[in-house]
Amino acid sequence: MSESKIRAKILSVGTYVPDAVLSNSCFESFLETSDEWIVTRTGISERRVVNMPRSAPGDMTAADMGCRAARVAMERAGVSAGEVDGVVVATFTPDNFFPSTACRMQADLGCTGAFAFDISAACAGFVYALTVASNMIAAGQAETMLVVGTEVISKTLDWSDRGTCILFGDGAGVAVLKATSGTAGVISSYLLSDGKMGDLLYLPSWGEERFLRMKGNEVFRQAVRMMSEASLEAVKRAGIELEDIDLLIPHQANIRIINAIAETLKLPKEKVMVNIGKYGNTSSASIPIALEEAWRDGRVRQGSRVLFVGVGGGFTVGSAVCII
Ligand SMILES: CC(C)(COP(=O)(O)OP(=O)(O)OC[C@H]1O[C@@H](n2cnc3c(N)ncnc32)[C@H](O)[C@@H]1OP(=O)(O)O)[C@@H](O)C(=O)NCCC(=O)NCCS
Repeated sequence: MSESKIRAKILSVGTYVPDAVLSNSCFESFLETSDEWIVTRTGISERRVVNMPRSAPGDMTAADMGCRAARVAMERAGVSAGEVDGVVVATFTPDNFFPSTACRMQADLGCTGAFAFDISAACAGFVYALTVASNMIAAGQAETMLVVGTEVISKTLDWSDRGTCILFGDGAGVAVLKATSGTAGVISSYLLSDGKMGDLLYLPSWGEERFLRMKGNEVFRQAVRMMSEASLEAVKRAGIELEDIDLLIPHQANIRIINAIAETLKLPKEKVMVNIGKYGNTSSASIPIALEEAWRDGRVRQGSRVLFVGVGGGFTVGSAVCII
């Protein structure tokens, strides 16, 4: 790895999750389900939501949560709003079709010298945004960027559909990226999409029935296959071996999906980050939320080799190897 190449280094991560805790037992009051079923089949015990089931919609939007997470990340990085050159937001629950959630964040944060745009790649969104931002930095188009994953999925759920509503939670995570000429930074990434599988997992933009829908079994199978293959591809592109990875941070969709990937890749449990129990599937926010926790707990530190991998509706898959 050459030292002179410009790379995008992750300086810091900040997160925000809503205060309201929706526990599995809450679902027992209006759905034919149980805490035991949900924990066993998904690994989820609770999630944070803007919107409690069957109550008036909460006010908080994806941009509001993203801004809260961004302020934490920027303070940790020692980066001021004026230094930010670009804001890239991955979300499937934007505040509006347009203006973009990124533009709202750019204004609210006061990043007056920054460009801003959204990326739609569902649960793979954070890796897509990280890839785009790091390539822009490597190309010299920007020096400092915010990479955001933020979702208010609770506003899109059909609370009578037990196959979907128990899985998801709300939250936001933001990484501050900065150009560096050292060895740290995003060293490889891999993206692939398969639009033919669009009907397995989707959220319509129009019409009366604007709920997230999913064919859970098939999504499960594809998620394991695609994330395992993508993980190997990013490692190969980084020119390293899987054993060189210190921590795999996969999209937190289902503990059984994560365990199946770890088994396929023959990664020991201590090299796989899992925090789905507390947050459920927060889509584009799940990887930065998991990264922040791993960093705080000392599982990620300077020099750590981290492998991110995410899969989502589209279908979309993305992976990246990053030296912290
Ligand atoms: C949704 C998911 C948890 C369902 O688990 P599963 O083990 O595949 O369960 P199945 O879909 O085979 O359903 C088994 C039974 O449980 C029932 N069931 C589904 N959700 C239930 C719930 N919340 N509580 C109790 N029973 C439930 C089904 O109706 C089915 O009943 P039946 O046999 O009488 O028809 C699982 O398929 C999954 O997590 N898929 C991937 C979802 C995902 O990660 N999406 C996002 C990707 S980014």
